[in-house]
Amino acid sequence: MEVIPEDIQAFAERYSTPETELLYRLHRETYLKIAQPHMLSGHLQGRLLTMVSQMIKPRRILEIGTFTGYSAICLAQGLTEDGVLHTIDVNEELEAMSSRYFKEAGLGDKIVQHTGKAAEIITQLDEVFDLVFIDADKAGYTGYYDMVWEKLRPGGFMLADNVLYHGEVVLPESGQSNNAKAMIRFAEKAVADERAETMLLTLRDGLMLIRKKQTH
Ligand SMILES: C[S@@+](CC[C@H](N)C(=O)[O-])C[C@H]1O[C@@H](n2cnc3c(N)ncnc32)[C@H](O)[C@@H]1O
Repeated sequence: MEVIPEDIQAFAERYSTPETELLYRLHRETYLKIAQPHMLSGHLQGRLLTMVSQMIKPRRILEIGTFTGYSAICLAQGLTEDGVLHTIDVNEELEAMSSRYFKEAGLGDKIVQHTGKAAEIITQLDEVFDLVFIDADKAGYTGYYDMVWEKLRPGGFMLADNVLYHGEVVLPESGQSNNAKAMIRFAEKAVADERAETMLLTLRDGLMLIRKKQTH
């Protein structure tokens, strides 16, 4: 079930800066060669990630869920001169492809790839992040929220993808998958957190913006 009607999606894409040639190729290669290609952020969400990153100008970004590297390349566009993006994925078969595109994009030195379970790798990262993008296993989101919180600078942002989970989050409980239920738990946790400000964007599959207040 798509949340946004196809014609509205097409209209929005028409009035948004197009994908770069490299991102277009990455998009195409993912759809030709990789299972579940719809997981890739794509044109509109990619543009938003780039714009958000350019607004924040982060020095450190953490991405949970690299896949073929589309969103990492988009997010890295806003990094400061000395900025670094850490990206984690459990699927080692994807590493060669994403790494090839990172190098081609001139981001080989700015993107650090970690292969393994996010819950194990996050604890090993000794960094303070300005921006975190959560886009991996849905059951893990609430745990990632807690793990990342301490590493997020006050005033920093967390973005979480798929919070509308194909629109299933508004179905009666009997029609919700476990992933949709996990997204509801995540959204409930974030909105109830007095240390945070939240904004759920109805973009693509639902992108939640969470800001860690300065006072916490
Ligand atoms: C939706 S895709 C990420 C899409 C990517 N951010 C983009 O926009 O192009 C989710 C990714 O999370 C990875 N993943 C799933 N469970 C994980 C875990 N426990 N730790 C790390 N990565 C995980 C999957 O292998 C998959 O590549």
